[in-house]
Amino acid sequence: MLPEQQDILWTFVTLLFTVFSILVFINVIKNCRARPGVNAQKWGIVFGAFILLSLYQTNEMFSLNQQEQLGYVGNQVLTVFFILLTWGIFFKGENIESQSPPLIRVAFFYSTISILLAGYTNWLPQQRSDPPPKAVAFTGEVTMEEYADMGKVIVFGAKQVAGQKSIGKGQCPLCHTFDPGDNIGRCPNLFGVEERSHTRIKEDRYLNSPIAIGEKDGPSGIIKGKPDEIPEEYRRDGSPDLIGEDYLRESLMCPSCYVVVSYGKAGDTVSPMPLIHKPPISLSKFELNSVITWLQAKDTPGEFSKVTVPLPSPDDTASEEPAVDGGEAPIFATGTETPEEIVNLMGCPLCHTIPGVEGAVGELGPKLHEKINAPNRIKDARYEGSAKTTQEYVRESILNPSAYVVMNEEEGELFPDGVMPADFGSKLSINALNKLVEFISNTEESGS
Ligand code: HEC
Ligand code: HEC
Repeated sequence: MLPEQQDILWTFVTLLFTVFSILVFINVIKNCRARPGVNAQKWGIVFGAFILLSLYQTNEMFSLNQQEQLGYVGNQVLTVFFILLTWGIFFKGENIESQSPPLIRVAFFYSTISILLAGYTNWLPQQRSDPPPKAVAFTGEVTMEEYADMGKVIVFGAKQVAGQKSIGKGQCPLCHTFDPGDNIGRCPNLFGVEERSHTRIKEDRYLNSPIAIGEKDGPSGIIKGKPDEIPEEYRRDGSPDLIGEDYLRESLMCPSCYVVVSYGKAGDTVSPMPLIHKPPISLSKFELNSVITWLQAKDTPGEFSKVTVPLPSPDDTASEEPAVDGGEAPIFATGTETPEEIVNLMGCPLCHTIPGVEGAVGELGPKLHEKINAPNRIKDARYEGSAKTTQEYVRESILNPSAYVVMNEEEGELFPDGVMPADFGSKLSINALNKLVEFISNTEESGS
């Protein structure tokens, strides 16, 4: 998650709380005026103080990012609780009986608000006000910080949507995590990867497995460990000696050149990671380099001494389409797309091989042959979901991947649970979901 983001919902709630404290103040003053015996000054000060406290908290709320807002909102709830309590004491203590007890009316008010809020939360897709991390002009000079920021946008996207992982053009967060201790299973956490990049290239495993330095990797056509033989349009200038940066570039362009222990297939000789410079992700040199810049800089915020990627020259960038569109829409399929477009938009091909979808040769999840697979899954003794038909099974798999975890027959173990994103429900309209389910339900091995 990009740290600088705020949440529309919490910002809205915080304003609501302040409005509420003002309403209570007005109510109290009215009641004081209507009754001569009541000490209006005392109560005015008490409830006026609540307004000030609410204003203070609202102001705090505006200075926090989304994560912190979530923690801080508890303080405000506490304040509202005390306002309610004091309000109740005011009514009881001053023996104002003419009105229904305010607590009851307030409870009613709050449940109405809660229902509205719940409705709002489910309203799709929810857009956060999110300043794109500096949409940088692509012509002319670029600073190292801006270059790393571009990489970050390619990884996480410029926009965030509530309840969704933020995922940019590079699609990395579909599989990877970036913070210490945050692991989702079958893909390495990329925290500390800059440091690792220097040691990896000295490992015996790097020198010999699954191919030796100087050998050519089949799927990518890359010669391992030879930075000066990388395809010209992606090559770095400078010495042909292998450095950390080359390991990172190779990780992206030739994932199977080196496979992190226990994260590969076929005895850790094949990487399930897609080639980042080929479809469907297809990063350009400029984009790829900005991602490497970010990878090298991200573990030392504000410090760029580890970065070895040279800044792009204006010539490099002039020829390129702007890589990052600041106004990039959040990922959402409305249902007007073709099934293939939906599949590509959601990134299913990065993990699944899907017959009928060009370039869908992902290897992290099962091959989608659901016409035959789905009925077998439902019959499996391990199956505890609620689907009775192929369509229901596919729908369940998309909305709740953990309902049943598929067995990987080739590897003789379960596919990792928790790798397939669980938030597709919030990225698909009902129509789009129906279309997708229909399409995936009819996938079968070609030629059979
Ligand atoms: C479909 C899932 C998937 C996607 C998408 C993906 N990766 Fe990976 N990545 C993996 C897996 C699995 C490995 C471990 C196997 C290997 O070494 O190739 C890996 C390994 C790596 C490594 C080597 C890590 C190490 O500890 O040496 C780097 C660096 C990396 N990925 C960066 C990226 C970046 C940057 C992106 C986005 C541009 C990305 N990956 C997108 C699955 C993915
Ligand atoms: C980041 C990787 C990843 C992405 C992206 C992904 N999946 Fe999955 N998917 C998996 C893994 C891993 C499994 C197996 C584990 C499990 O059953 O939960 C799986 C299981 C499934 C299954 C059950 C397959 C069977 O044969 O029983 C279906 C159906 C499915 N995915 C559909 C989709 C669709 C449709 C999309 C895109 C909207 C998608 N997946 C995106 C990783 C992914």
